[in-house]
Amino acid sequence: MKVGIVGTGFVGASAAYALTLRGSCTELVLVDINEKKALAEAEDIQHATPFTHPVRVTAGNYKDLADAKVVILTAGVNQKPGETRLQLLERNVKIFAEMVPQVVKAAKDAILIVATNPVDVLTAVTAKIAGLPEGRVLGSGTTLDTARFRALVGQHVGIDPQHVHAFVLGEHGDSEVLAWSGASISGIPIGEYCVQRGIEWNDKTRKDIDEKVRKAAYTIIEGKGATYYGIGAALARITEVITRDARAILSVTAPDSDGLAYALPRIVGGEGIRETLEVPLSTREAIELSKSVEVLKEATGQAMG
Ligand code: LAC
Repeated sequence: MKVGIVGTGFVGASAAYALTLRGSCTELVLVDINEKKALAEAEDIQHATPFTHPVRVTAGNYKDLADAKVVILTAGVNQKPGETRLQLLERNVKIFAEMVPQVVKAAKDAILIVATNPVDVLTAVTAKIAGLPEGRVLGSGTTLDTARFRALVGQHVGIDPQHVHAFVLGEHGDSEVLAWSGASISGIPIGEYCVQRGIEWNDKTRKDIDEKVRKAAYTIIEGKGATYYGIGAALARITEVITRDARAILSVTAPDSDGLAYALPRIVGGEGIRETLEVPLSTREAIELSKSVEVLKEATGQAMG
């Protein structure tokens, strides 16, 4: 099964490497305006395949995306230290206006996964340009934020984060919402789990985790200039859920009936998004989510202007 990645910067290359390590596809085509970079990334990852899986990794151009099951869109500018994701909007909308029609023409049956920020707005823009059936255009959304949330809770209580069930909703950005009210450890509400085990759990622990999730990208970008391993792994996971028709529940972003994209837990499978789930939220979380949607409504209106 073929997967294409357009953009072989830090995020695209990390996603390609993660897909190869996981063996999520049999063929990987890397496309970049900088053909030399795409070729170098393809060769470097190809050399890892004797240690990983027999994935055929090549560099190509848009026509080589033909018959791809999934195409991941990572091209664009990324955040500089202190820059918000929404501040990338104008520059990346221009790139997408040029890129998306060429991807859809080359890979007419592909499911498109948007990774470039601001990912919610660019997912809405991509869906509008692509004109594909509902569910075929999605974005990484808050899958990485949800992973950060789960990882930090797992670290706090000392268990494998695979057993922490929690979601981040809304904007992949400053207005995102950590849905604490539904968070559990294998079905046990986190607060109850901590009381049972004598683990500290109070407003301060929740606030610390919330801050760390919300500010993670800024902190990492300050330290190393960009984030890419976390988002690369998230993109590989989303892609694999599609290539294996796994029907997993992921907080990906996708346009609603008004064309506004934001993250909610959705069932993802071989045809893209199958269903969007209703999440029970506390009153405070519901208000925060509507504020996050408002932030995206304004930015999306600006992009579609
Ligand atoms: C981050 C980027 C992918 O949150 O927005 O690391």
